[in-house]
Amino acid sequence: MRKVSFAEFGGPEVLQLVDAEEPHAGPGRIRIAVRAAGVNPVDWRIREGQVLGAHPVELPSGVGLDAAGVVDEVGEGVTGVEAGDRVFGEGTSTYAEFAVLSAWARMPEGLTFEEAAGYPSVVETALRVIGESGVRSGQTLLVSGASGGVGSAVLQIARDRGITVIGTAGAANQDYLRSLGALATTYGEGWTERVRRLGRVDAALDLAGSGVIRELVELTGDPHKVISIADLGAPELGVRFSGVAGSVPAALAEAVSLISRGKLHIPVEKPYPLAGAAAAHTDSQAGHTRGRRVLLI
Ligand SMILES: NC(=O)c1ccc[n+]([C@@H]2O[C@H](COP(=O)([O-])OP(=O)(O)OC[C@H]3O[C@@H](n4cnc5c(N)ncnc54)[C@H](OP(=O)(O)O)[C@@H]3O)[C@@H](O)[C@H]2O)c1
Repeated sequence: MRKVSFAEFGGPEVLQLVDAEEPHAGPGRIRIAVRAAGVNPVDWRIREGQVLGAHPVELPSGVGLDAAGVVDEVGEGVTGVEAGDRVFGEGTSTYAEFAVLSAWARMPEGLTFEEAAGYPSVVETALRVIGESGVRSGQTLLVSGASGGVGSAVLQIARDRGITVIGTAGAANQDYLRSLGALATTYGEGWTERVRRLGRVDAALDLAGSGVIRELVELTGDPHKVISIADLGAPELGVRFSGVAGSVPAALAEAVSLISRGKLHIPVEKPYPLAGAAAAHTDSQAGHTRGRRVLLI
């Protein structure tokens, strides 16, 4: 089969499309014929060799966590899914024609493979950080960097829970944030004043890692009401860095429920062919993805 692989850490150019042995589903796993793979910032962080806690990387390495496709092998002990089912979920080396998943759910009616591949990691992250922020129905959540993959999920899940969201994004994404039910303003010079004019803030999320932790603490009045997923310096200011994934099966079940009720849609900014993985990484690293980028296999 063909898969994307890298033999040394580095820029997008280290990604190569190679012929490889097909993986097989061990106990508790399934194998899918991948139809689409989600492109997440963590994919290029791993490719660059950034330190990522519990993710030791052996070279050469495949790329990708998220995927959607058709089940074609079911490992020992797995129940409730069979060959031919359309699923989305998380696994390893998903930028490939076949991949093994460790967590999955059946795709809801009407969802395309292209869209489905964009959900797993961002929904898990969104549910985790909303939970950790402690924000409740009737309160207001400030989201810095609200138009990306995680932000798109946070805004819609918060709206479904009766939480008001104030989101920051670039000028081109103001209408997008409003379409997801948020109050919107731009980041950059004077942004904290613009947020204050939109309302009082009960909790805040730093999703972009753009150096705003101090301001988020000021706006909430308490470092314990701020969570960052992208600023490793946050703990120095008493703010929790959320980096350990929660339950992916639970997140997928919640995603299915939200999608089926018409409450969650993460747009695909751009699809790329498998051979376009380096271009997808270059574009993701530019830092202005709306929704998710995906590879189509
Ligand atoms: N710790 C964890 O568990 C975890 C999990 C998932 C992701 N992450 C990290 O969280 C970050 C976001 O992930 P993602 O998948 O949502 O990324 P993404 O889809 O690439 O989105 C990035 C977003 O950042 C926004 N942005 C760029 N510069 C900004 C600024 N100065 N202020 C505010 N927003 C700005 C962009 O908005 P505009 O286009 O509107 O400028 C863009 O929509 C990444 O660094 C990723 O590695 C961490």
